[in-house]
Amino acid sequence: MTAEHSLFALDEIESGTARKVVIGDREIALVRIEDEVYAIGDTCTHDDVSLSEGFVEAEDFQIECWRHGTMFNLKTGEPETLPAVRPVLVYDVAVVDGQVILTIDESIDESIDAPEDA
Ligand code: FES
Repeated sequence: MTAEHSLFALDEIESGTARKVVIGDREIALVRIEDEVYAIGDTCTHDDVSLSEGFVEAEDFQIECWRHGTMFNLKTGEPETLPAVRPVLVYDVAVVDGQVILTIDESIDESIDAPEDA
């Protein structure tokens, strides 16, 4: 089962920045690059820190974990540098009439991107 969530207007977030949203027990990082938005699990798979507090590398579609520097690909969720080795979830997100719409597949367990020592 999927659920759509209308989050905020695209204009409310600057290109090259991230914002965390909490929906139920899911914490999700939304990242705007130009007129596109990417959505990934907000918790770094290396440890329990928020990726939305990291640094966006817009030209490479990556966000850098602020704690130890893993670069996560915003399109695939894959860590492209160490120390994290497991991906974060990637969520479906679209911009419709200027509004950021997130679609969550409730059948996918968000705990699969829990930190390695959890
Ligand atoms: S906590 Fe993210 S790389 Fe270590």
